[in-house]
Amino acid sequence: MYSETVMDHFKNPRNVGEIENPDGVGEVGNPVCGDIMKIFLKIENNIVVDAKFKTFGCGAAIASSSMATELVRGKSLEDAWKLSNKAVAEALDGLPPIKMHCSVLAEEGIHKAINDYRVKHGLEPWQESSSHSHEHGEDPVCQQ
Ligand code: FES
Repeated sequence: MYSETVMDHFKNPRNVGEIENPDGVGEVGNPVCGDIMKIFLKIENNIVVDAKFKTFGCGAAIASSSMATELVRGKSLEDAWKLSNKAVAEALDGLPPIKMHCSVLAEEGIHKAINDYRVKHGLEPWQESSSHSHEHGEDPVCQQ
């Protein structure tokens, strides 16, 4: 059911942990399954120089956080913001449809962390776009 890439990132997640004195932190949760993801970003000159995560959640959420933190490293804030949950799922060689919403947590966590940084620096937070896919409705049912 899961791709080898998902299993790899689930069993050997990259970038687990916290960043000391992070520049941006985003914590998101799915109220249905109770899974929680916290993203930490270190930002220098508008570039994400480090990204780490702590996820208390299902395997797909852990694999998504691992992949998402890998993907945003080295990116400008603008490019990191554009990382969609679909891109994370594609980089994982796909997620089962019922697990797509788990990757949404990664996108939302990164958005929150970026906006945390922006607000701390007196900048307007960026708006979540509607392309942001909650394909399974507002209230996705998590199936472990
Ligand atoms: Fe809740 Fe995956 S995030 S089941």
